[in-house]
Amino acid sequence: MASANDSRQAQKDAADQNFDYMFKLLIIGNSSVGKTSFLFRYADDSFTSAFVSTVGIDFKVKTVYRNEKRVKLQIWDTAGQERYRTITTAYYRGAMGFLLMYDITNQESFNAVRDCWWLELLLVYTWRQAKICLMGFVCVNKGDPVVSSDLSSDLLDCLVGFEFFEASAKDNINVKQVFERLVDIICEKMNESLDNNPSMVTNNKAPKLSENPPPQQSGGCSC
Ligand code: GTP
Ligand code: MG
Repeated sequence: MASANDSRQAQKDAADQNFDYMFKLLIIGNSSVGKTSFLFRYADDSFTSAFVSTVGIDFKVKTVYRNEKRVKLQIWDTAGQERYRTITTAYYRGAMGFLLMYDITNQESFNAVRDCWWLELLLVYTWRQAKICLMGFVCVNKGDPVVSSDLSSDLLDCLVGFEFFEASAKDNINVKQVFERLVDIICEKMNESLDNNPSMVTNNKAPKLSENPPPQQSGGCSC
């Protein structure tokens, strides 16, 4: 459970205008797959087994560092329930990265990904406008799987450009890594789009993302 200090810090972070880049990210997927838990684990390092279904949409802010640049992640946690779809899809526009989650103990949540239900929504609500739109599957493992790993990898084979992670908010598996990878990919894409301004691009080796501020020194950023 987040403390009052944590919550004050979160409010401060959200209002903080001191950043070099802001990446808008969205977490989508069926209700109860673990989207909110995933975000809470990442942003607050907390987990609760109580299920409080998200109403509409919520967000958290986390600042990470890449080279000497502050990257503010604005991470939107969408409600999976159908009745909030009009609200949640309104936030797709302008997002630079998506995490599409399903739960391997929940066949329906996998089917919604497999049958391109979520992808169609993304096509309609982002791809026509978004400069960068990336997705990763986060497959949450909550117990005995009903979706076999073969099915997950078949799905991945069908969808070019997607990445797949098996993760657990409860056991803190792959949570930070998923966000790091997403930010890495966005930075790589930004590099590609900076072809006309080579002075902004340092090299192809993107340094590891870190939560700690860099030492004071000058230098370029590969973002
Ligand atoms: P909506 O807000 O309705 O869209 O659901 P959600 O996707 O945000 O699901 P939420 O994160 O609220 O999690 C649903 C339930 O799954 C909660 O009871 C969580 O405690 C549980 N849960 C989430 N992640 C894990 C995990 O990695 N392992 C286990 N065992 N349970 C998890
Ligand atoms: Mg939720």
